[in-house]
Amino acid sequence: MNISMNPNSELEQSIVSVPDVVQVPDILVSQARQFQQVMMMYTCAIREVKTKLEVLNDELSVRNQRNPIEMIKSRVKKPMSIVEKLQRRGLPISLESMVDHLDDVAGIRVICSFVDDIYEVADMLVRQDDITVVAIKDYIKNPKPNGYRSYHMIVEIPVFFSDCKKPMRVEVQIRTIAMDFWASLDHQLKYKKEVVNEKEISEELRQCAEVIAQTDQKMYEIRQQIESQGVQVRRSS
Ligand code: GTP
Ligand code: MG
Repeated sequence: MNISMNPNSELEQSIVSVPDVVQVPDILVSQARQFQQVMMMYTCAIREVKTKLEVLNDELSVRNQRNPIEMIKSRVKKPMSIVEKLQRRGLPISLESMVDHLDDVAGIRVICSFVDDIYEVADMLVRQDDITVVAIKDYIKNPKPNGYRSYHMIVEIPVFFSDCKKPMRVEVQIRTIAMDFWASLDHQLKYKKEVVNEKEISEELRQCAEVIAQTDQKMYEIRQQIESQGVQVRRSS
């Protein structure tokens, strides 16, 4: 390809003609700042809940001599996902509407080692007196028809800012490593556009979820067998 270096070329002229200062309307600046501020508040709420979970993990690690939490992931919902969800639910597209109607703008995913760890961590979190439980969906006791398993909680936590205290909502999803493995792959596959044999694939995925749930149960039983033997230190030769 031949790129012209002639300063009078059309490309050069269009670059030169871009104005140095772009005037952004005040209303846009103000809306962008408001959005930035609210998202900052959700980020702070995530930090508060995450710290609580980390403290619980540290305490339980000392008590039980193993980590109940393998990993904690978090995210604030992306602007396009916020708009898409409000649209899908037929709600107004505004900051107020987001705050009033969406409970998953701030999201935390807790990956536990064993199923009983999920309930222990969840119980310990909701017993804390600054945490209010807004909703619980137990997709472990009641898996979704497609096989999805996870323990979901919407919690509210007060976050202290310079001049006010705001109750903020956070979605906490708690699952085992195995449940997370299944959900991650299910999520990837769902976004594939056209699957010819949709029914068969969904059934196979559901069966995989069953196998995974059985493995989780088996691993829990193995752990119990080992723990019932008490602490034994192997003598080094
Ligand atoms: P969303 O509009 O998707 O947020 O669902 P919801 O508000 O009805 O809540 P629900 O508790 O059903 O799901 C919340 C979140 O759980 C989703 O955003 C996903 O992260 C996860 N989830 C729920 N169902 C599935 C599923 O079938 N597969 C996977 N991979 N994730 C799921
Ligand atoms: Mg969601």
